[in-house]
Amino acid sequence: MTSLAVHGLSVARGERTLVEGVDLRLTGGTVCALLGPSGCGKSSLLAVLAGQLRPRSGSVAVTRGSLISDPALRPVTALLPQELALAGPSSLLANAANGRLRSRPFLRFPWGPGRADRTEAMDLLRRLGIGHLAHREARRVSGGERQRCALARTMLTGAPVWLLDEPVSQLDPDTARVAMDLVRARAVVSDAVVVAALHQPALADLCDQRLELDGAGGWHLTEAA
Ligand SMILES: Nc1ncnc2c1ncn2[C@@H]1O[C@H](COP(=O)(O)OP(=O)(O)OP(=O)(O)O)[C@@H](O)[C@H]1O
Ligand SMILES: [Mg+2]
Repeated sequence: MTSLAVHGLSVARGERTLVEGVDLRLTGGTVCALLGPSGCGKSSLLAVLAGQLRPRSGSVAVTRGSLISDPALRPVTALLPQELALAGPSSLLANAANGRLRSRPFLRFPWGPGRADRTEAMDLLRRLGIGHLAHREARRVSGGERQRCALARTMLTGAPVWLLDEPVSQLDPDTARVAMDLVRARAVVSDAVVVAALHQPALADLCDQRLELDGAGGWHLTEAA
């Protein structure tokens, strides 16, 4: 079972303390909504969990069976950044299937993802309502379609922890709900811990836990009803 344990974690940007002393323990299959106003520190906290930004203090540990690791080791976490980072000239299918290469970097060249990986990627694209665009270049689809592709890519990484930075911000409410339901279901199957920065309260209500930041160091953790 995967577990993400955060102890006494403080995150700052320059002089400003964004969040202070977070204690949190999440297990595989759990989705935690990360909430708070724009600029409060959600992306910064995700960057710390991803090992891309040093915390001011505290620790983050990821455990899965015998694997006990600091997230500075990249393969432990998969970060879906707010700006998506897709390869524009590649198809949605290729972008999504490339998620698989993270866990198997030796496949990267010259073969790329195999047939099973592409089949799984296609299945996710269909479930997200963009199967018909699978062979279209990522730069030639809409923002919300790109966002769903990036979400599929993250879910295909096999990483124990998925850090999703506003993964459905460009989607209409119904499509966003379908996407978050899929994230939940896949997290259970993949034994993945999910932390998702969200601005939509209705979507946060679907999550197992809510971590709310006030942007001045304060935070509040609640279990879903
Ligand atoms: N690279 C950086 N260097 C310095 N300050 C930064 C940097 N990135 C963000 N900040 C500042 O840190 C604070 C928190 O930013 P962060 O991106 O974590 O907020 P956020 O909660 O994700 O906001 P949003 O909802 O708008 O995405 C903001 O005041 C922001 O201006
Ligand atoms: Mg942000």
